[in-house]
Amino acid sequence: MKKRLLVTGAHGLLGSEIVPMFRDAFEVVPVDLAHCDITAAAEVSRLFREARPDIVIHCAAYTAVDRAETEREKAFLVNGQGTRNVAECCARAGSLLVTFGSDYVFGGMGGRPCLEGDETHPLSAYGESKLAAERACAESGAKFLSIRTQWLYGAHGRNFITAILDRAKKGEALRVVDDQTGCPTWARDLADATRRLIEADATGIVHFSNGGETTWFEFARMIVAEAFPDRTIEIAPVSTASLALPASRPTYSPLDKGYYRQLTGHDPRGWQDAAREFIHSETERQS
Ligand SMILES: NC(=O)c1ccc[n+]([C@@H]2O[C@H](COP(=O)([O-])OP(=O)(O)OC[C@H]3O[C@@H](n4cnc5c(N)ncnc54)[C@H](OP(=O)(O)O)[C@@H]3O)[C@@H](O)[C@H]2O)c1
Repeated sequence: MKKRLLVTGAHGLLGSEIVPMFRDAFEVVPVDLAHCDITAAAEVSRLFREARPDIVIHCAAYTAVDRAETEREKAFLVNGQGTRNVAECCARAGSLLVTFGSDYVFGGMGGRPCLEGDETHPLSAYGESKLAAERACAESGAKFLSIRTQWLYGAHGRNFITAILDRAKKGEALRVVDDQTGCPTWARDLADATRRLIEADATGIVHFSNGGETTWFEFARMIVAEAFPDRTIEIAPVSTASLALPASRPTYSPLDKGYYRQLTGHDPRGWQDAAREFIHSETERQS
């Protein structure tokens, strides 16, 4: 009999890649805010009684990084308390909890890729709320796997690649920050890594992103070169400070994938290869 897999946030950027990645081998139950508000403990308990999951892949989250500075309570309610509600149900039901953390739990001043055991130092309300989610998992007593990741893009919802492509198509000016370093990661590759980690029976905190590192500016240059090889599109490099965004971001936060490699025996493909495949699939889909 197939194991039962509950996916929260199933229509979000990542959840939309998780659901098809597991459908062949699991009985997948996809849910979203309309089915269950994770901030309501009674709703989460009801969901567990109905779905009886062996595994929960918890993708539901508050992800509006800048808005979180003025909606701090909501960010903590969804990411902290909401994750606690899910984790406590997992502990009671004996279900494995798989969830996703962020590089924004780090301050990003280390000068080398971040290891799982590095000291956390969130610079924003969103980062703090994601740290609260990690603590909720650890305190719940559930068997859990928390995969920290970064700079996600995918076919569902808006993201950096589609935003750059849209602006370039309209001939709008492109100004992109060149003083933050991380690694763009295709949500599909993260869904694949999630499956590999579950199959390896991994628990605790594990870092995953695509391979290598870059800045948002270099990433934007790669996107336009790949999508519009016959056009010259100017992109202006700007500083993060010049954008005066509400939330601070880490300057240097690539994630070290050594532990992921050790657990799965799999080497994440480079960010350029993943982004290239995504850009071509998107341009084909839109033509
Ligand atoms: N995107 C990134 O670059 C990134 C980077 C690092 C880590 N992560 C983490 O990866 C995970 C998935 O992120 P994502 O980018 O897929 O996020 P997303 O696209 O914003 O999806 C989040 C989903 O959660 C749902 N949701 C929000 N509040 C809820 C609530 N109270 N109850 C139930 N569902 C609720 C949303 O529903 P509605 O759309 O209806 O509100 C949405 O479907 C999150 O834990 C995120 O923190 C993301």
